[in-house]
Amino acid sequence: MQSENSLLGVYGPRDLTLARGEGSYVWDAEGRRYLDCVSGVAVNALGHGHPAVTAAIVEQAGKFLHASNLYILPTQRDLAARLADLSGFPSVFFGNSGTEANEGAFKFARKYFSASARPDRFEIISFSDSFHGRTYAALTATGQPKMWEGFGPLPHGFLTVAANDVAALKRAVGPNTAAILYEPVQAEGGVVNMEPATAEALRALQAQGVLLIADEIQTGLWRTGTFLGSEALGLKPDLVTLAKPLGGGLPLGAILLSEKIAGALKAGDHGSTFGGNPVACAAGLAVLGVLSDPAFQKDYHDRIALLRGGLEELLARANKRGAAAGVEVGALRGRGFLIGFQYKGKASAENQGDGVPALQKRLRDAGVLAHRAGADVLRLLPPLTFSRAEIAELLAALDKALA
Ligand SMILES: Cc1ncc(COP(=O)(O)O)c(C=O)c1O
Repeated sequence: MQSENSLLGVYGPRDLTLARGEGSYVWDAEGRRYLDCVSGVAVNALGHGHPAVTAAIVEQAGKFLHASNLYILPTQRDLAARLADLSGFPSVFFGNSGTEANEGAFKFARKYFSASARPDRFEIISFSDSFHGRTYAALTATGQPKMWEGFGPLPHGFLTVAANDVAALKRAVGPNTAAILYEPVQAEGGVVNMEPATAEALRALQAQGVLLIADEIQTGLWRTGTFLGSEALGLKPDLVTLAKPLGGGLPLGAILLSEKIAGALKAGDHGSTFGGNPVACAAGLAVLGVLSDPAFQKDYHDRIALLRGGLEELLARANKRGAAAGVEVGALRGRGFLIGFQYKGKASAENQGDGVPALQKRLRDAGVLAHRAGADVLRLLPPLTFSRAEIAELLAALDKALA
């Protein structure tokens, strides 16, 4: 095996070499098969090697890979139209990643106020335990101080308030507030659902003129059941950021802009060399084509009910069993195929308890890849194409791993 030593160690130690993937499965270098419930951290909405995505990539690659945003690029134009159609937002800007989409959204929110002769409204409010990316402004908006350590000074004009604390949110909003940035379900932070009271407060603040920016990078594109996670909360944000599954596994991010925000931006205000790459946009069209199909949607919603129903039962049983053994198994979190539950193993004199990493290891030994969120939440992100047989396979493996 070749050494991994030339790679910067920011991802921590890794001990699984992946060789290939097909549908909901991946194979390691030794030929062992795993049910992939990580999906490239919510990227592979159609699993691995979906023929529609592969065909779209091959077709566009045969025309040109890149040509620049100086020209009309048909797959980019068509993907923007499709996103506008699906979302009801009239305007789309393409970048390459989630963090870049958030950076752009902050710029657009500030530009809107400066163009409205209110440049004093520049502050972006976000929530504790959120995750918005690793570039400077997105990092500063990320409500996890441990991620800021050693990187200061951070950009000015960002404020974090406790998630789901309506009183704190209302106190934080002031004459300098431009926008509130939220995730409908905090994904990296531990699969924490936004409470209805928080959504209600956001709607009221928006009615007073504060912009809402929805970070739908992990929740969007039907991961949580609806096209945007905001829909289930009754929120209609002014700006939406998308990335992860949008490019079918190729790097692609997008910002959806309401009419009033789009109206504040003119030629030259923003840009990106690779943003809206024609091949990534071709893949994105294929992804949206599959996911928006009404027959797919009906079946997907049935499978969401099947998987979440099965998990609820399984977790309730594991919770009862665990209570006697000093193991804590929490209730089901998230929405749709964004799934999480708290897991705290039994602590002993020697260790803090076999927490999520031990559960992940038992699942991996049983042939299932799962991810962690927050400190003690096991996160499952199956592809949206996850079949009924794969649901049964996951439930059986999880039952065993929790026993
Ligand atoms: C909600 C959310 N926002 C932003 C990001 C950053 O996206 P990227 O890693 O593509 O920059 C992520 C990535 O995990 C995310 O989950």
